[in-house]
Amino acid sequence: MLKLGVIGTSWICRQFIDAAIETGKYELKAAYSRSLEKGEAFVSDFPGVYVFDDLANFVNFEKLDVIYIASPNSLHYSQTKAAVESGKSVIVEKPAFSNPKEWDEIHRLAHENGVYVLEAARHIHELVFQTIKDFLSDKTITGANLIYAKYSTKMPALLAGELPNKWNPKFSGGILADLGVYLVYWAIGQFGLPEAAHYKAQLLPSGVDVSGYGLLRYGDFDVSLYSAGNSFSYQSSEVYTTDGTLIIDSPATPSSIQFVKLDGNSEQINIKIAENPLFAEADDFADFLSNPTTSENKKNYADWTELSKFVNQILFTMRQDAAIVFDADIDD
Ligand SMILES: NC(=O)c1ccc[n+]([C@@H]2O[C@H](COP(=O)([O-])OP(=O)(O)OC[C@H]3O[C@@H](n4cnc5c(N)ncnc54)[C@H](OP(=O)(O)O)[C@@H]3O)[C@@H](O)[C@H]2O)c1
Repeated sequence: MLKLGVIGTSWICRQFIDAAIETGKYELKAAYSRSLEKGEAFVSDFPGVYVFDDLANFVNFEKLDVIYIASPNSLHYSQTKAAVESGKSVIVEKPAFSNPKEWDEIHRLAHENGVYVLEAARHIHELVFQTIKDFLSDKTITGANLIYAKYSTKMPALLAGELPNKWNPKFSGGILADLGVYLVYWAIGQFGLPEAAHYKAQLLPSGVDVSGYGLLRYGDFDVSLYSAGNSFSYQSSEVYTTDGTLIIDSPATPSSIQFVKLDGNSEQINIKIAENPLFAEADDFADFLSNPTTSENKKNYADWTELSKFVNQILFTMRQDAAIVFDADIDD
């Protein structure tokens, strides 16, 4: 049983705790919040959980094997650093770190301290991601068009003149970091590292993107990405091949996939979706952390880490193309 500590008191942290407990492989031991009262209310369904409002005491708590971090993006770096330096492995929400400098430093520290850092890109752990990969493995890709646009629950606050974390460069916000990251993960997970990446975005007065079009250039095909937080898209995503077109209702939250052959005939691809979308990653990470030195687990960690690094690099390149600067990019 892995002893789990959590940072963050929003719905996503609760969803991860539920997924972790559902696997039967974790036991919630501690939670960190800036407010003891808020932390205690957050874990009130789980008797016996220790609550901390001091980060150093939390990460040093000896009853923990792994810490899950679901805080605003820019805090992932300092919180992961504190955990890793205290000898704890970390599962950190996407996007894990603000730029390649942070990514490299954290992974250097993790290696030095003999612990592991895992990026919670939930959708690449879901069975359907591998089903698609297997389906495409004998096909020649000619392009893809990936979409994730959802009107943000934080849009009304933004329109009212507030600056929610999600739209704040101080917290490494913006739509590429929030939703676009799912598409970048999906594309690189399916097709590998692109040769070049471009991004054109509509920027908010805060300087981060509210919507944007990305282009990933592969040798002989291109992948377009559209993400937005100020509109809903009901359009499906598509992967084009020399045999036909794979239509996926949403790469981040798939529920229906079909392949339309060049002659117009179509077949539905059978997929299995877990009720809790974080179940698959929680389960994968538990299997890994319980026995990290088997050859299969070493390979899994190397693959996840490489993908995380590539995604971090491409997100940074895309941001630079759209002149989006986070506070985390500026040296003190
Ligand atoms: N995988 C997914 O499906 C998914 C879905 C949603 C979000 N996420 C990711 O999860 C992370 C958290 O997102 P979120 O929307 O939950 O963020 P959030 O609501 O802005 O913040 C999450 C938690 O961080 C703490 N926090 C908030 N503002 C803070 C500040 N100014 N300084 C220090 N701590 C602060 C709060 O906990 P306390 O007040 O208790 O300290 C809060 O509960 C992000 O990286 C996001 O990308 C992933």
